[in-house]
Amino acid sequence: MSKKENKNESGSAESAGECTAGDTKDDKGLGLGVIFFILAFVICFLSGTLLFPKLLYSKKEQPFNFNHELHVGETGDCESCHAIREDGSFNGIPKLAKCQECHTETPLGETEDEAVFTEMYVAKEKEVPWYVYSRQPDCVFFSHAAHTKTEGMDCVTCHGPIGTSTNLKPYEENRITGYSREIWGQNIWGIKKHSWDRMKMDDCAECHKKETGHQGYCFQCHK
Ligand code: HEC
Ligand code: HEC
Ligand code: HEC
Ligand code: HEC
Ligand code: HEC
Repeated sequence: MSKKENKNESGSAESAGECTAGDTKDDKGLGLGVIFFILAFVICFLSGTLLFPKLLYSKKEQPFNFNHELHVGETGDCESCHAIREDGSFNGIPKLAKCQECHTETPLGETEDEAVFTEMYVAKEKEVPWYVYSRQPDCVFFSHAAHTKTEGMDCVTCHGPIGTSTNLKPYEENRITGYSREIWGQNIWGIKKHSWDRMKMDDCAECHKKETGHQGYCFQCHK
């Protein structure tokens, strides 16, 4: 203890007078270092949060807007368009034939979206090439019947409020994997606020563990 004090004393005595300027310079250096560190951190943080997602995902517009709220109001339910078939498989997005129950070559209204739909698809008898937000990689097996029919789960749990939306968001494709952004989620850090924010393997397994006590075997979800 005393030795150290002595050393300090002798040290400061030696450099006394000539080193005062140097001391303040060192302090300045440290201050600048902290500022540069914070600056670099902010730049990295912003590019990671704002720039990286822009580079990683390419945005694709849907062929035209589809208004769920309006159509659910017309049909009264989801099942008239998204139903589980007799054999237990899911019909997914309805085919053009379903739309033609109401839409003919004469538009029902005057919106531009309906004009595009009528001219490009109804009149040409062409299926609409929708991008599927929740599309999983080909190796994944998913069954709607097991979840919505057997377990009575709500569509919102996994898809969010698409069924009540009036506007379609752009589809975002991961440039590296080719998968939809819905898999990794909107938050680049992988933070999840709602059950539908992300649908990675861990998210499926998390719910399976909670509901059944085990996360399941590989072959349950993989073909
Ligand atoms: C039960 C009847 C019915 C069915 C089935 C139906 N529609 Fe419609 N659709 C309507 C009605 C009614 C409107 C409103 C027209 C208006 O007044 O603007 C509409 C409007 C639209 C519009 C314009 C909406 C807007 O806000 O710009 C588009 C696009 C559209 N439908 C696409 C489709 C597609 C695609 C399908 C098939 C998946 C489909 N519709 C199935 C009745 C239906
Ligand atoms: C008139 C037919 C119609 C009705 C009724 C309807 N949908 Fe849809 N749904 C569509 C069409 C067409 C698409 C493809 C365009 C899109 O992504 O919105 C779609 C897409 C979806 C998707 C997106 C799938 C994906 O991952 O891309 C979800 C989720 C969905 N519907 C849920 C619902 C729910 C929940 C209801 C009832 C509240 C409902 N839909 C009622 C026609 C319909
Ligand atoms: C447990 C989660 C879960 C629930 C609940 C759920 N879905 Fe899905 N849905 C998914 C997954 C995962 C996919 C992608 C499947 C794939 O790519 O093989 C999907 C795909 C879809 C698609 C696109 C199908 C296609 O490939 O064309 C539609 C439409 C859809 N779901 C509508 C609904 C509706 C309507 C309900 C409620 C009746 C519902 N989903 C309930 C997880 C769920
Ligand atoms: C919010 C809860 C929840 C989420 C999220 C969820 N599941 Fe499930 N899943 C269940 C429940 C509950 C069952 C029924 C369990 C049982 O019967 O043992 C089930 C059953 C299944 C089955 C059928 C198992 C069988 O043998 O009949 C498959 C396959 C499956 N889930 C795949 C998936 C995949 C893939 C995902 C993610 C894309 C997913 N699930 C997301 C709750 C969920
Ligand atoms: C509850 C359903 C479920 C179970 C059980 C499951 N997986 Fe997965 N797995 C998924 C889903 C969904 C994806 C795609 C999303 C992702 O990449 O996280 C995936 C992706 C993968 C991938 C990456 C494939 C790619 O193309 O990105 C591998 C590898 C994989 N799983 C291996 C396994 C192995 C090994 C097991 C058994 C220990 C297993 N999985 C069990 C649902 C499941």
